[in-house]
Amino acid sequence: MRVLGIETSCDETGVALYDTALTGGKGLLADALYSQIAMHAEFGGVVPELASRDHTRKLLPLIEQVLSDAKLTRRDLDGITYTAGPGLVGALMVGASTAHGMARALNIPVLGVHHMEGHLLAPMLEDEPPEFPFVALLVSGGHTQLVEVQGLGRYQLLGESVDDAAGEAFDKAAKMLGLAYPGGPQVAKLAEQGDPKRFRFPRPMTDRPGLDFSFSGLKTHTMTAIRQLETAGELDAQARADVARAFEEAVVDTLVIKCRRALDQTGLKRLVVAGGVSANHRLRERLQAACEKRQARAYYPRGRFCTDNGAMIAYVGAQRLAAGERDTPGMMQATPRWP
Ligand code: KG4
Ligand code: ZN
Repeated sequence: MRVLGIETSCDETGVALYDTALTGGKGLLADALYSQIAMHAEFGGVVPELASRDHTRKLLPLIEQVLSDAKLTRRDLDGITYTAGPGLVGALMVGASTAHGMARALNIPVLGVHHMEGHLLAPMLEDEPPEFPFVALLVSGGHTQLVEVQGLGRYQLLGESVDDAAGEAFDKAAKMLGLAYPGGPQVAKLAEQGDPKRFRFPRPMTDRPGLDFSFSGLKTHTMTAIRQLETAGELDAQARADVARAFEEAVVDTLVIKCRRALDQTGLKRLVVAGGVSANHRLRERLQAACEKRQARAYYPRGRFCTDNGAMIAYVGAQRLAAGERDTPGMMQATPRWP
């Protein structure tokens, strides 16, 4: 089945083509991405209405582009899949209505899929994909979750954030440090210049059993540290880097502690790490060490598939369409809050 995948849940327009006759990464025939980050940067965050409008401008040209890259036409498509949620409702509706309109015109099946399932299975597009079962750490701007994955659609939530997501905490810390949106990569860059010994920030919820996370207290702690330095007239460039480093260490350490626990608790030897924060180098270094100690292996999507993209949606949707799942014709789905 040749499937067109559409991602428009937030501020990236992602489109890809996946062929289920081929396996893993080989099935990815083409992918294209347009990021709106520059447009939203001047507002310090995503402006939902601007996001929707920009998706309407970029989506059809991107679809033409992937078809032409793969030397195919619309008539060669056997199915269409799109992100049905969670995300911004207007942005989701652009992808959902385009997918349903095209599917109706071409008389082919269409299916809405869960954005986080896309992130979860993005490492399946790599040359050496993980075998089932595995533990997955999903760390994005909206989610922090540990999931036991037995197979496609067979997921058990082991733990999740009770408040802010890890990426959200990175973005808020960036704002406090006067860094541009999106903050995660900027905080990580600044942290490289920081002294890891100057400050020690708390590791929330690691002193008790369980696999849930909490990052809102860490945000308050970061704010207090910055204010104290400011009052003392000590908030220079080095101090800002030291705060960024202490913050990053605290988030990374917390994520690593819970991943170790999840691997030990399930006895599994494969750890998938996906979502925007999985691009963080310090997190990768530390998880690598934790896995080596347990004769376990960590799997990541390639860099550009860590953040939002169409390839992960095309992959997941193609698997589900090939298994016979379909939306009811004419019933497009846009679910902003979808557990
Ligand atoms: O998965 P994603 O692209 O979008 C959501 O579905 O949320 O994740 C975006 C998040 C943002 O919060 C961003 O700051 C964070 O991932 N992020 C990072 C890094 N790269 C992206 N956080 C820490 N270190 C990074 N290198
Ligand atoms: Zn995402």
